[in-house]
Amino acid sequence: MTAKISIIGAGMTGSTTAHWLAEREIADLVLVDIVEGMPQGKALDLMQALPVIGKDVEVIGSNDYAATQGSDIIIITAGVARKPGMSREDLLTTNANIVRTAVENTVKISPQAIYLILTNPLDTMATLAMRVSGLPPERVVGQAGVLDSARMRTFVAMETGVSVENIACYVMGGHGDEMVPLTRHSNVAGVSLRDFLPADRLAAIVERTRKGGAEVINLLKTGSAYYAPAVAVAQMAEAILRDKHLIVPASAYMRGEYGLQDMYFGVPVQLGRGGIEKILEYSLDADEQAELKASAAKVRESIQVMQRLVKIESPGPDR
Ligand code: APR
Repeated sequence: MTAKISIIGAGMTGSTTAHWLAEREIADLVLVDIVEGMPQGKALDLMQALPVIGKDVEVIGSNDYAATQGSDIIIITAGVARKPGMSREDLLTTNANIVRTAVENTVKISPQAIYLILTNPLDTMATLAMRVSGLPPERVVGQAGVLDSARMRTFVAMETGVSVENIACYVMGGHGDEMVPLTRHSNVAGVSLRDFLPADRLAAIVERTRKGGAEVINLLKTGSAYYAPAVAVAQMAEAILRDKHLIVPASAYMRGEYGLQDMYFGVPVQLGRGGIEKILEYSLDADEQAELKASAAKVRESIQVMQRLVKIESPGPDR
C-alpha cells in the first residue's frame, strides 16, 4: 500500500517539502492550507512536474483536514514565518493556536500518524503538539537539528573547500541563537573541526550557524528560509517510512536525558518506522554542558510562556 504524507501549511516550506518528497517517490502527498485554491493549485502544478522526472506520486491539495485521513506522517509547517527583527518567540501565540488546530483536526482521523513539526518556536511547538495530540512522545518529532547541522556543514565546506559529503556536523540544543554546535564531535573526513580549523575561523562558523536562520530572513526580507528546512524534514520522513534507523539531531521529548525533563529539545535521535527509537547521550565536556544548559533554560522559558497562553487538557505522558 502506498504511504501517505500530509503537509499542513502549503506555504513556502510546506510546498517545498512536497517538492523534495515527490522527488523521493516514497508516498502520496496531501497539502492542506487555509488559503482557498492555493494548496489545490500547488498540488496540480507539482503533479504536472512529475512526468518530466518520471515519478508516480499523487499530490492532492485541500482546504479541508478530511483529506489527511489515514496519513502515515503529518508534517506541520502551518504558521506565520519570521520577519526581519522578529524573534522566534514573537511568533508564539499565533503559531501555538495554529499548531493546536492542525493537530486537533488531524489526530482523530490519522491515529497511526507520526508528526514532524517545523513551525517556530520549534521546541515549544513540538511540546505543544505532543501534549495536544495525546500521542506517545516518540511519535512527535521536531525538525531543527538536521537543518542547523546542514547549515554548519555548508559553512565548513565554504571555509575549507572540501566536499560537503566529507563534512559531518552535529548541532544540539534548542532551535534558537543558543543552539550548541558541537565542534569537537563535528569533523571533516573524521578529523575533528577543532583540529582541522584555526580557533577563530571555527568560532566564526559557530556564530554564523547560530544566526543561520536570521541571515536568510534578513536577505529575503519577506519570509524565512524554506529550501533547507524542507529537505531536512523530507530526510526525516524518508528515514521513518523506510525504517532506516537513521541518527539525526532532532527535537525530542526529554525524560531525564542530558538532565532534562518534560520538554522538547534538540538531541541526537535514531529514527525508524515507529518514530524516535532511541535518544543518544553524547559525552559532553564542561563547556558543552554549560552551553546546553543555557539553551535548555531558554527553551523552558518559552514553553512556560506557551503554557500560560494556551490551555492544554492533556497532563503530558509522565504525570
Ligand atoms: N491551517 C493550515 N494552514 C495554515 C493555518 C492553519 N490554521 N494558518 C496558517 N496557515 C498557512 C498559511 O496560509 C501559509 O500558507 O501556513 C502557511 C505558512 O507558509 P509561509 O507563510 O510561506 O511560511 P513558511 O516560510 O512556510 O514557514 C512556516 O515554518 O520554518 C517555520 O518559522 C517558520 O513557523 C514558520 C513555518
